[in-house]
Amino acid sequence: MIMTTVLLTGATGLVGSRLLPRLADDGVDCRALVRRDVELPAGVTAVRGDLDDPASLAPALEGVDAVVHLAALFRTDDEAAIWRANHDGTRHLVEAVAAHAPTARVVMASTGNVYDATAPRPARETDPCTPTAAYPASKVAAEQLLRESGLTWSILRLPFVYGDDDGHLATIATLAPRFGLHPAHTYSVAHHRDVAALVRMALAGTTDGRVVNLTDDAPVTVWEMARLAGATLEESSAPLEHPWSGRMDGALARELGFRPTVPTIHAAAAEGIL
Ligand SMILES: NC(=O)c1ccc[n+]([C@@H]2O[C@H](COP(=O)([O-])OP(=O)(O)OC[C@H]3O[C@@H](n4cnc5c(N)ncnc54)[C@H](OP(=O)(O)O)[C@@H]3O)[C@@H](O)[C@H]2O)c1
Repeated sequence: MIMTTVLLTGATGLVGSRLLPRLADDGVDCRALVRRDVELPAGVTAVRGDLDDPASLAPALEGVDAVVHLAALFRTDDEAAIWRANHDGTRHLVEAVAAHAPTARVVMASTGNVYDATAPRPARETDPCTPTAAYPASKVAAEQLLRESGLTWSILRLPFVYGDDDGHLATIATLAPRFGLHPAHTYSVAHHRDVAALVRMALAGTTDGRVVNLTDDAPVTVWEMARLAGATLEESSAPLEHPWSGRMDGALARELGFRPTVPTIHAAAAEGIL
């Protein structure tokens, strides 16, 4: 059991709302930074605050041992808002931690989208990241702020996260035609249960000072993701332009001791936890 006080940003999001009850069940004293009235798991303390409002962060950080920073903006075309939330918001948080909880461990969620689409193999943490789109570019910039902050940090680059009835898998059916995704395009993925597993390792200090990719054991095609969500995409046997785009190398996490508890998306389907 981890006995510690943790502030979660993004606790109301797809990932945070499934991570929060798991951490609370572990016995973690959880504090959630929220911008509105929301129902939170029993035992979790809500603290009003907004990453856009630096002054609101000080009371949220009082006495915390760690911060799990999930808050971000990316399901929008508003690039200025994306930069404001992901870069400026992280800067406000990092400055507030340095001022009010300088010994706290900061665990930030980033994304596999930071990697270059032209990668010649699954992307490793040390690979160059030069994205131009606002979401991954703002995440790379936010990562850099944290890495240079002097705080105790780790950065978890999440793949496509699914499960616990979050509806994320079903969005593939609309995202694939919108972004021209080939049905054979393959994503690294992970279940919410394993996001929690890696966050636990990070809270214990195992990933301190590192950027770590999260993946389960079997990447999955867009075609299969849609099928698992009950949808069918247009078929294609055209060659893939960037065969490794979307693929992350999960070796480092395993070297550090991570083992996915949901090894594949098909195992999740069989267990009824999609
Ligand atoms: N979901 C995935 O598959 C996936 C994959 C790769 C990486 N990630 C990363 O994982 C993290 C969580 O993703 P998600 O899918 O859970 O995102 P999400 O569902 O869009 O949730 C975003 C969260 O951020 C909060 N937020 C946004 N702007 C804020 C601000 N200015 N101040 C305070 N809170 C703010 C939102 O609060 P409100 O409820 O108040 O709007 C919400 O709780 C992100 O960092 C993302 O980059 C996710």
